[in-house]
Amino acid sequence: MATTNSSQLSLFLILLAILSSGSLTISSHGFTVEEATVAELQLAFKQNQLTSRQLVEFYLGEISRLNPVLRGVIEVNPDALHLADKADRERNAKAPSSLLPGLHGIPVLVKDNIATKDNKMNTTAGSFALLGSIVPRNAFVVTKLINAGAIILGKASLSEWANFRGLAPNGWCARSEQGKNPYVLSADTCGSSSGSAISVAANMAAVTLGTETDGSILCPSSYNSVVGIKPTVGLTSRDGVIPITPKQDTVGPMCRTVADAVYVLDAIVGFDRNDEATREASKYIPRGGYKQFLKQCGLKRKRLGIVRNPFVVEGSEVAEVFEHHIQTMRQRGAIVVDNLTVANIDDILDASGSGELVTFVAEFKLSLNAYLKGLVSSPVRSLADVIAFNNKFSKSEKIKEYGQMLFEAAQATEGIDSGVQEAYSNLARLSKDGLEKLMRENKLDAVVTPGANFATVLAIGGFPGINVPAGYDSNGVPFGICFGGLKGTEPKLIEIAYGFEQATKIRKPPSFKP
Ligand SMILES: *[C@@H]1O[C@H](CO)[C@@H](O)[C@H](O)[C@H]1NC(C)=O
Ligand SMILES: *[C@@H]1O[C@H](CO)[C@@H](O)[C@H](O)[C@H]1NC(C)=O
Repeated sequence: MATTNSSQLSLFLILLAILSSGSLTISSHGFTVEEATVAELQLAFKQNQLTSRQLVEFYLGEISRLNPVLRGVIEVNPDALHLADKADRERNAKAPSSLLPGLHGIPVLVKDNIATKDNKMNTTAGSFALLGSIVPRNAFVVTKLINAGAIILGKASLSEWANFRGLAPNGWCARSEQGKNPYVLSADTCGSSSGSAISVAANMAAVTLGTETDGSILCPSSYNSVVGIKPTVGLTSRDGVIPITPKQDTVGPMCRTVADAVYVLDAIVGFDRNDEATREASKYIPRGGYKQFLKQCGLKRKRLGIVRNPFVVEGSEVAEVFEHHIQTMRQRGAIVVDNLTVANIDDILDASGSGELVTFVAEFKLSLNAYLKGLVSSPVRSLADVIAFNNKFSKSEKIKEYGQMLFEAAQATEGIDSGVQEAYSNLARLSKDGLEKLMRENKLDAVVTPGANFATVLAIGGFPGINVPAGYDSNGVPFGICFGGLKGTEPKLIEIAYGFEQATKIRKPPSFKP
């Protein structure tokens, strides 16, 4: 997909094409696909106002119109229309009620570090080093999506190697180059699941999957005004996901609404014998799934802990909006416990001092080497090969400019030594004295902070969090609000996030400001 297109004139022409978009109404019955939720799409299917083929054609059209600038999509599935026809045939053959309200016939983009085994799409984490590699099987979460009837529309771009290579800007990878924030093109996209956030925000897909190790779902969701669910580690299998560390990696939905994200979460959670962490975490999955927690009055009687320091910048635009949202939560029946602090918060947020980085580099070398060895065929078979590839065949000068210091630091590690063990203990202690104690002592259902900087507190404990769009600054750059809690508390977080979303309805489609 990536074509170099840097001249001012062509950029101008593309922007003109974006802004002068034609009618987005695609069927003769007047159904509008733009911003449609999964439930609305399913209803339109049922009422014969829409087919999956029309839906895929719509997204392919939007991708060819918008992606030359936004670069949120790295590859389109050459079989997408064929799969859409298959979904349409299945729908016509079955009683429609048996297909509601899940993902049947719904096009999904998955981040390019999540394996797809169809021998047409690549799985590369945005790097040329993995182009042409053959994965042994679909990632478990992809199999789950396919079993739910979803259409894999393509792969989303990302900060290369999920932001674990060097000093590249957020949203940049060698294969797709710089992803752009669809609200304000010059603004940060955050990362590393930048393409998933960009694409779903700009209606280039119905729903998307991202991955997070520390902030990679929550942060781009905040910056691109979408809902991101970062599940408890182990709730979603990491099998077939290009890894950073099994301690913290997790796969989650990035969507335009909480309900859409919950439909996706319901489809992808579950035990997988190829990911041991799912054995423990699958006990958290409620009977009947997560949909039952989409309650209009989800904020009622919830004890919400507001953690200001250091997340609220006094006097900022975000702080002002945040105060207003706290009032709304009170009005909707939440019990607000204000001005709490997480013990040792400065230590937690310092990835070098806490030991988090020490565990990342050691785990990354082991996990990536195992992933690469498991490939059916691949131009690179080890981290050392990837480093050599970047040094030698770099198709982009940017690779040299941005370096690969994290790769090099990882390559220099020698397994899980006493230093790494010590880091594990320190991180466990920080979580125990920090979020765990705070939640218990204040009997909280969730902690609430503006933006996504709370992600590290959640990351080091394997805890879940949800970002919901919360506002736009005076330049039009979006920001979110983060609800976080202890392991397995997705039901409560979903009630709170949905209650907040329904009370505020902040999200609006992007306006492509320069
Ligand atoms: C996957 O990569 C190969 C190059 O190895 C390329 O020819 C092919 O078009 C890519 N697939 C897609 C769907 O872009
Ligand atoms: C929060 O606590 C700090 C220190 O205890 C205090 O200075 C500040 O005014 C409090 N803020 C709010 C909004 O209560």
